[in-house]
Amino acid sequence: MPSTPSVCQGEITTVPSDRTDPHYLAPDPVAWAERREEQAKAFDAIGERYDEAFPNKEGQEDCVRRLLDSLPQGAHVLDLGSGTGLPTARQLINAGARVTGFEISERMLELARANVPEADFRQADIMDLDPVETSYDAIVAFFSLLCLPKDRVAVALGRVRASLAPGGLLCLSMVETDLDDVPLSFLGTKIRVSGYRRDELREVVTNAGLVIEDERVVRFEPKDEGARPEVQLFLTCRRGA
Ligand SMILES: C[S@@+](CC[C@H](N)C(=O)[O-])C[C@H]1O[C@@H](n2cnc3c(N)ncnc32)[C@H](O)[C@@H]1O
Repeated sequence: MPSTPSVCQGEITTVPSDRTDPHYLAPDPVAWAERREEQAKAFDAIGERYDEAFPNKEGQEDCVRRLLDSLPQGAHVLDLGSGTGLPTARQLINAGARVTGFEISERMLELARANVPEADFRQADIMDLDPVETSYDAIVAFFSLLCLPKDRVAVALGRVRASLAPGGLLCLSMVETDLDDVPLSFLGTKIRVSGYRRDELREVVTNAGLVIEDERVVRFEPKDEGARPEVQLFLTCRRGA
């Protein structure tokens, strides 16, 4: 396992992946299940501290506001990696949307169900998204795809595209870095993280059949020493034909 580097303010951090780590990219189902369990436990340990460390999410809220302007009343929105349900599921429900959340952490699910009882939060892996099951008017994935290895991000984006109704929208946010499934210190625990430079992220999204309609860059200062300042990328994308 490499040491646990952190993302630096305003710089692109490049950390080589440790290919001898058995959970790196987790190629087989058993290794993937173990990796998912580790990630879920890390977020169980973080719990409500996540919202304390990231109390002001103007970039995220603005992105959802713009999304809501394009959606019909009662639209069905899937929140991938829904965390505590705040602010996004709450904001969507308040605007009259129907919300389904996918989340692997039991503690996050508990918090989300208490914070936003009107939404339907399920203990489900982003990678279990099944395009045949449901078609969504919009999908939001705020800082959740960064919890996947890069090869899975590409697969997940393909499933996201296929799970959107024709003309459906994706709001995606990522931290700008250059990492592939690297364990990082975060709020006193360790999570495996991936990140792209913005041109690389555009390419991955476009290759998945999504058309980027809006892109914003936000410099963000968390309110906790266990999390570093970061550059956040917000993309709004439409399902391509
Ligand atoms: C960085 S937090 C962001 C939470 C929320 N989207 C927000 O913006 O406040 C990432 C969330 O994704 C969840 N997560 C990580 N990997 C996941 C996976 N494979 N499937 C579903 N949820 C996942 C974590 O448990 C965590 O709650």
